[in-house]
Amino acid sequence: MTAGMTDARDRAGCIRRGLVPTGDAVLARMRSAGVHRFTATGALPVPRYLERLYWWAYVHPVAVRLFDRAWLVDAILFGNFARLRDAALDALGETISGRTLQVGCVYGNLTQRLRERLTGDAQLDVVDVLPVQLENLGRKLPPDERVALLHGDASSLACAGAQYDRVLLFFLLHEMPENLRRAALGEAVRVLKPGGRLVIVDYHLPSRLHPLRPLMHQVFRHLEPHAFDLWAHRVEQFMPRGAQATFVKRTYFGGLYQRLVWTRQAVSGASGAVERLMNVKREEAPPK
Ligand SMILES: C[S@@+](CC[C@H](N)C(=O)[O-])C[C@H]1O[C@@H](n2cnc3c(N)ncnc32)[C@H](O)[C@@H]1O
Repeated sequence: MTAGMTDARDRAGCIRRGLVPTGDAVLARMRSAGVHRFTATGALPVPRYLERLYWWAYVHPVAVRLFDRAWLVDAILFGNFARLRDAALDALGETISGRTLQVGCVYGNLTQRLRERLTGDAQLDVVDVLPVQLENLGRKLPPDERVALLHGDASSLACAGAQYDRVLLFFLLHEMPENLRRAALGEAVRVLKPGGRLVIVDYHLPSRLHPLRPLMHQVFRHLEPHAFDLWAHRVEQFMPRGAQATFVKRTYFGGLYQRLVWTRQAVSGASGAVERLMNVKREEAPPK
């Protein structure tokens, strides 16, 4: 195990169960890409849905080079990338202290912008299941001790609970099959500290009159079949039992996108600090 790996593991409080480090070649590539504190593991499998449905977007190195273009990401979101990125960042905070977890790399400059909001002693961990994505992100970030890129699976973070003040899921949930989506939300809730905030930005079912609804239906049908679940259900319905999930929801672009904010609250019981997951209070006006 490299010193970098130890650092990252200690910092994130993550114990990668039964996983072995990747070979030297992968680690060397990580270092040359400027990936700091990379907890590489050779034994972490690529989820089947990624290999089967998203090989062209994330898995293949050529795909990464092709798709990580600001104008293309923006076009895929009909010109809404900056708006949705900023909606996510604003929900995380104008300035961001403490520990933040971004689950899944994101094309474009979301992580760079997130980093710019970090206070001096803040920490940002970015977890992705694909080394090629972490390498790509590492190349885009300047060296920064506050930022760690970690190899891990959203549905099983193998990390101690109650570690983070904020967790961000940006356009991740619609890609996942239901069981893994539930697991990823369960993990996000589990690793949040009491009082911590979960921020989700993803697709949302627009009204029948939305001019892009038929097009998005075809896109989902041919490319992103699990996204239909986010049209058919509220995200609350995938949250862990007992989380009593009520999100503060805001929709964008005529209801095609949504931002959800959920806060894990701690309630002290008579016998000491008893943690309970409960509803978040409305903290912003519903969208007009
Ligand atoms: C978060 S989504 C973001 C999609 C968005 N359209 C963009 O612009 O990148 C895609 C990222 O999530 C990662 N990812 C997908 N499933 C994952 C999982 N189970 N665990 C960790 N990362 C995952 C992919 O490797 C990819 O880097």
